[in-house]
Amino acid sequence: MDKKAIYKLSYGVFMLSTRSGEKVNGCITNTCMQVAGNPVRVAISVLNTNYTCDLLKESGIFALSILDQTCSFATIKHFGFQSGRDVDKFADLQMPKDCNDIPYMGWNACAVISGKVVEQQDLGTHTLFIAEVVDAKLINENAPLTYADYQTKVKPKAEPKAQDKKIVGWRCRICNYVYEGSELPADFTCPICGHGVEDFEPVYEA
Ligand SMILES: Cc1cc2nc3c(=O)[nH]c(=O)nc-3n(C[C@H](O)[C@H](O)[C@H](O)COP(=O)(O)O)c2cc1C
Repeated sequence: MDKKAIYKLSYGVFMLSTRSGEKVNGCITNTCMQVAGNPVRVAISVLNTNYTCDLLKESGIFALSILDQTCSFATIKHFGFQSGRDVDKFADLQMPKDCNDIPYMGWNACAVISGKVVEQQDLGTHTLFIAEVVDAKLINENAPLTYADYQTKVKPKAEPKAQDKKIVGWRCRICNYVYEGSELPADFTCPICGHGVEDFEPVYEA
């Protein structure tokens, strides 16, 4: 199997937020698709290791902010490169709230979907949630950000200075798993989140 073929699948980029009682959290995802109409249903896939996944399993409600072309790396970093287990990602943010009192992106996003989980299946690394869309709101007319755009336009390029140093490992940008070794095999996929080599960045010697 040529895994590079799998990388040709296209996705959007989203901020998935949820609330269980007083606990609020959210993370970046690139997996959401409409899977049925009338009622509209979407499928989202969330890493089992994510705090967002725990809260979503508890409450079954979420807001999915559809990130747009104005999205900065700072936003992706804030929600996608740290865990709500370690930091309150919503502490200092003024955000609008959806019909379920869940904060969503009032900037860097062109639309928001509010969902209620109707089915879920554990897929090992991820849980697949099927949800009914209970509300949806257009925020602006900006074009949505695609995962390919994120890779080529939003994600920062490696700093040239660091390239002079010896590579001692490769870190998965998605889940932070570190592969130890200077050369990452071309067909490597992350054992934690399943993402491929294009989502790994070098770890340089100290
Ligand atoms: C571009 C990008 C795409 C991502 N896609 C997903 C995804 O589809 N599903 C997922 O569960 N995590 C995805 N992640 C990883 C989570 O956003 C990340 O693990 C986050 O730190 C989890 O935070 P939490 O523990 O607060 O939930 C993605 C991250 C980035 C940067």
